[in-house]
Amino acid sequence: MKVYRFDEINSTNAFFKEIKKVENYDCAIAQKQSAGVGRRGNKWVSELGMALFSFVLLEDEIKEQSDYSKLPLIIGIAVLRALNKIENLEYKYKWTNDIYLNDRKISGILVEKVKNYFIVGIGINVNNTDYGYVGNKAISLREVTSSYYNIEDIIFCIIEECKKNISKVNNGEWIEILEEINRYNYLKDKEIIVEKYGEIIGEGIAKNIDFDGKLIVEIKEEKRKFDIGEIHIKNDR
Ligand code: BTN
Repeated sequence: MKVYRFDEINSTNAFFKEIKKVENYDCAIAQKQSAGVGRRGNKWVSELGMALFSFVLLEDEIKEQSDYSKLPLIIGIAVLRALNKIENLEYKYKWTNDIYLNDRKISGILVEKVKNYFIVGIGINVNNTDYGYVGNKAISLREVTSSYYNIEDIIFCIIEECKKNISKVNNGEWIEILEEINRYNYLKDKEIIVEKYGEIIGEGIAKNIDFDGKLIVEIKEEKRKFDIGEIHIKNDR
């Protein structure tokens, strides 16, 4: 496992797309990113004081191909657990890739696949209190506790939790992770709209996340499952 550190880079995810040789859990950490990317091609505000990093997962690190789609969930709950170890707060897991605190986003995850490996990119608001254009939809650890944190401690704690989760999944213990995810399910019982490529594909009450990692949504007393989609909470700020 190599650790690459940058004062500034375009994007730690882009770094691993360009590099020739990668090994499991190689990690790139940046103080700042000039072109941070979020999901759906969104810009990811990358301020000083944030944890901005990516690490590599070779595809055969995950035994069953059918588990690939669970990666965002496996990583998401690892981030939540690690944050709880650093500072015990009321974090929530927002299906599929976000961690929330006090109804605001503290962390986002972007998993990308290139060649035979995944790039897991994670951004967390840690010591920053400026969230750029995202404004009051975001929150940081420092905003809540007024403390400063060692960012690398957080990063390595997350990677450790990811390793634990992946070996659990490989040992057939996904259900334990899923139960944990459902305990922290931010969307549960909220009225939501599911959107895909700008079109509404479902509207109802969010329920649990099912065994396949899909979100169950109750729509007019019928239960439907979604495996992809942008979630909007109705009547949200
Ligand atoms: C999202 O919520 O849309 C996902 C955000 C992922 C941001 C991280 S920051 C480190 C890594 N490098 C990037 O350019 N993006 C990810």
